[in-house]
Amino acid sequence: KASGIWGGRFNAGPSAVMQAINASVDVDKRLFEQDIAGSLAHARMLAACGVISSEDEHAISSGLIAIRDDIIAGDFEWKPELEDVHMNIEAALREKIGAPAGRLHTGRSRNDQVATDFRLWLRGALDDAAKGLRAYQEALVKQAETHADWVMPGFTHLQTAQPISLGHHLLCWVEAAERDRGRLLDARDRLNESPLGAAALAGTAFPIDRSMTAAALGFDVPMANSLDAVSSRDFALEALAAAAITAVNLSRFAEEIVLWTSGRFGFAQLTDAFSTGSSIMPQKRNPDAAELVRAKPGRISGALQGLIIVCKGLPLAYSKDMQEDKQLVFDAFDDLALAIAAMSGMAADLSFNRETLEAAAGESYSDATDLADWLVRELGMPFRDAHHVSGSAVKAAEAKGLPLKDLPLSDYQAIEPKIDERVFSVLSARASMESRTSYGGTAPVRVMEQVKAWQEHFEFE
Ligand code: ARG
Repeated sequence: KASGIWGGRFNAGPSAVMQAINASVDVDKRLFEQDIAGSLAHARMLAACGVISSEDEHAISSGLIAIRDDIIAGDFEWKPELEDVHMNIEAALREKIGAPAGRLHTGRSRNDQVATDFRLWLRGALDDAAKGLRAYQEALVKQAETHADWVMPGFTHLQTAQPISLGHHLLCWVEAAERDRGRLLDARDRLNESPLGAAALAGTAFPIDRSMTAAALGFDVPMANSLDAVSSRDFALEALAAAAITAVNLSRFAEEIVLWTSGRFGFAQLTDAFSTGSSIMPQKRNPDAAELVRAKPGRISGALQGLIIVCKGLPLAYSKDMQEDKQLVFDAFDDLALAIAAMSGMAADLSFNRETLEAAAGESYSDATDLADWLVRELGMPFRDAHHVSGSAVKAAEAKGLPLKDLPLSDYQAIEPKIDERVFSVLSARASMESRTSYGGTAPVRVMEQVKAWQEHFEFE
């Protein structure tokens, strides 16, 4: 038998498989708060515009609020035969208040309704992610302040390159997180327009006030084109792109945490709160959370790719393909929220090994550039020639198994007779770090300026 919302045109109900492929309520019931907020705004607007009576509006509104309470209390039965969150709530409203429930869907369709709900949900998720990133940045800045003058090896190609400040290294991730926040919040600003009242695709003949519902829901404006309102999902693509890039940046620091906490590096450790053991090897302390953050770009960028393919080639206006958007976005933003929280936690939890870092910073001829710079500065040599002389010194020192600072002056002078005693003053990791005072450089004075700048930036907000 045919029943339900479109029963008028149908003789029979759907097959089991039709219902199984069509139902989305298991996923989209997560939108219940947004769905009810949208319906409350819509009902009030309909009454204000004289489309429904204020008695009906009151019945609808109090019914919706009661349903919201039921859902929060876990006292609501979601029915897959009612397809999605929208029809479940509408059916429950009819059960609660009877006939007036049937007036709520005037001048509206599920197409503008779901777009409205989804934008509201994503707006909240983007705000939360930005907030989480701020906490992560604050944890990093605090560590950077404590470790501004700790020297560590800076790497290129994961080969020891030049000594840097640990604080400087940590502030690099604060910069990246700031751009990630910017991208997430840009996406938030661009999606903050109201589709509600676009109805199925063409608008409505009822004298509705879309500005009123837009304002009630905190949207900046009603969307100007009804087709665009119901068929665009680029807002979700943009949010996923921002999420994917954020996840990539987080994964890079996560990888460093994995490396730094390994015995081979011995730069840092996580406390028990962020470590796991092994079921067989009693000695193990594994950085599982960092590894999982390292893995998250797989799923999050997968969601982006997935939704891109869903949207590609879709003609106007709404097609049911679009229902597949929510699971991808929910999963991606759940993953992102966890990744951000885990990184904030680990950023605060990490403790560092000063001696190991400083010793590593001085290894592998990391002061060879300082030697070359000294030749340029003190002997007036062109940098390319100085590079060659310094390279010869490294070769000589390596042959003797010595660091540059222990290579005898006579060996230096055999390479370049004008080199004198003063050269030894630049041959240490700490001197190297402290010398790099250019704007944006790693000298602790510059790092502390950046720490202060970030602290003021956080306070100013
Ligand atoms: N559950 C649907 C979705 O998420 C709601 C919109 C359904 N619209 C329709 N014309 N069947 O996309």
